Amino acid sequence: MNSSTVNTTTLNFSAGPGVLPAEVIAQASRDLVDIDNTGIGVLEHSHRGGAITRVFQEAQEDCRAVGGIPEDFEILFLQGGASAQFGMIPMNFLPTGASADYVDTGAWTTKAIKDADTVGTANVVWSGKDSGYRSIPTSDQLIWNDGAAYSYYCTNNTIYGTRWNESPRTNTPLISDMSSDIFSRPIDWDRHAMVFAGAQKNIGPAGVTLVIIRKDFMATAQSNLPAMFRYGIHADKGSMYNTPPVFAVYCAGLVFKWILSLGGVAEMEKINNRKAATIYEAIDSSDGFFTGHADVAARSTMNIAFTSPSPEVDAAFIAAAADAGMVNLKGHRSVGGIRASVYNAFPEEGCNTLASFMRSFAADNRS
Ligand SMILES: Cc1ncc(COP(=O)(O)O)c(C=O)c1O
Repeated sequence: MNSSTVNTTTLNFSAGPGVLPAEVIAQASRDLVDIDNTGIGVLEHSHRGGAITRVFQEAQEDCRAVGGIPEDFEILFLQGGASAQFGMIPMNFLPTGASADYVDTGAWTTKAIKDADTVGTANVVWSGKDSGYRSIPTSDQLIWNDGAAYSYYCTNNTIYGTRWNESPRTNTPLISDMSSDIFSRPIDWDRHAMVFAGAQKNIGPAGVTLVIIRKDFMATAQSNLPAMFRYGIHADKGSMYNTPPVFAVYCAGLVFKWILSLGGVAEMEKINNRKAATIYEAIDSSDGFFTGHADVAARSTMNIAFTSPSPEVDAAFIAAAADAGMVNLKGHRSVGGIRASVYNAFPEEGCNTLASFMRSFAADNRS
């Protein structure tokens, strides 16, 4: 297989697992057969051998370069998805009798809150539930508790298409779920003690979770936990305490190199802003045919959720788009409507194609 056999005709708007760069798929397909001229494919090497040691080292170094991650943060490649972090965070950082602050901006934070409540107390300092999770709180709407063990938020809310434009400032260690927008824009490391992300949107295939954690914060973790649930053990063992998800880390490494080759996260952000603006423009100029789910001030550049005049028209739009080669545009079942996920690897031309399609569909279906 070579790059010419990669299917580039279908535009995949999936919310995750999402589209990967064609260059990454092409390289992976070659290394599947033989990596580094070892005569053995990447899936078949021992994680203790030279080839995979090289892969992990480069993935770590390139991840640090992509994210501009300071040296006092550990970079860990863990398993269990982002959802495992919902439990592992309170297990490590929420001592008996303590509470932590959570901002509830949708289903993924709601799940994290539920898991924290199994360990200690999650204080919900703000919730967007009553208004359909369309917005993100302003700094004066947030009153953090100085006694909280940590504060927790989610930068980009995949289901509703909302995002924080700026990281909050807290007096306690700040933890962020960045599963659906990591490396789509720069991260303010000064404000965070820990950031995590499931890989399957902006980093690579499902199976690895990136955890970036400040060493002095990691040192405050509970120590009476089973080994697999201790950040410190994974850090000491270079993310190889047990057999790691080699292929997922390998692909993540290729994605990091791809981001660097484009000019890094700053360049990625410019491209993402242009891509999202094209689709929002098609919504805003539709004379009310399309309505965005998120408040304008909270619009995500990764997930764009919107509706047409009715659920029936939404369904017709999704079917017609699929016929035109644009797939996975159905909104999440809890919100309905249409959702275009345009992660880092989603091509800019694809956003232009969708925007044109939206304009002609609106013109043809206006009552
Ligand atoms: C923001 C966010 N957090 C967490 C998750 C859960 O990730 P995982 O399936 O890796 O556990 C998702 C999945 O879509 C997500 O979008």
